[in-house]
Amino acid sequence: MAENRNETGRLTPPRANGTARRENGGSLPAPPRHIAIIMDGNGRWATKRGLPRTAGHKAGAETFRKIATYCKDLGVKYLTVYAFSTENWKRSETEVSAIMALLKKYLLEAVDTMERDHIRLHFFGDMSPIAPELRALARETDEITEHLSKDDFQANVCLNYGGRDEILRAARRFAANCAAGKRRPEELDEAVFSGYLDSAGIPDPELIIRPSGEQRLSNFLLWQSAYAEFYYTDTLWPDFDEAELDRAIAAYHARDRRFGGVKK
Ligand code: FPP
Repeated sequence: MAENRNETGRLTPPRANGTARRENGGSLPAPPRHIAIIMDGNGRWATKRGLPRTAGHKAGAETFRKIATYCKDLGVKYLTVYAFSTENWKRSETEVSAIMALLKKYLLEAVDTMERDHIRLHFFGDMSPIAPELRALARETDEITEHLSKDDFQANVCLNYGGRDEILRAARRFAANCAAGKRRPEELDEAVFSGYLDSAGIPDPELIIRPSGEQRLSNFLLWQSAYAEFYYTDTLWPDFDEAELDRAIAAYHARDRRFGGVKK
């Protein structure tokens, strides 16, 4: 559980009635069930400090740990992060290898701790071009995840992920099932199609956060973001902290969510 964060006024873990609470007084409604984050700005953070870009990713991985822990403490059920896109292979070999090494390090630690910490870990994306060792680790975490309770906190890491690619892979699988006589085209509706996506069984994110001043979706969760609220901040991902997440959640609660309907 989170330690006392009284001095900063940050949110404390949810109480039995599901509301989150600031130590310094006021009650806030429960946080979104699913938060998704584009972890952007690692390279600029490093460059500003005269460091190699890889140092930015290392700092970004630590921020991921910190924010995942905070989400879990707040009672957020799912956190989905964009770790490596289908376009990121265009980066230098050094940078790609550094990101893969960070993921491997994280997974090696996770396989030992996720049962103890009740953290489920799941991957979105096409794992086929990922190095065998990392792929095997991802399979291992999936197996551990299967044993954990569905009520436990779940982090989804998007690796070699692109929203368009995810939709194409889903469409291909549905078409293959039709060709095999297991499905009929007229059965396809939003619920059926969602079941073919990497996010099958996971509710859509209510809040998508992009740090670093950029305001684009960059091929992230194209299907799942249909009704998401967006929160942008100039803070670079390695500097993103619990107070910034509090601000994002507060901004989310201030929005008027109508889902295409009218205000009551
Ligand atoms: C985007 O910032 C960040 C990435 C492409 C990599 C994100 C990867 C990690 C944080 C490390 C591994 C993650 C986990 C879950 C352990 P950028 O490099 O595009 O930044 P820039 O726009 O400032 O150049």
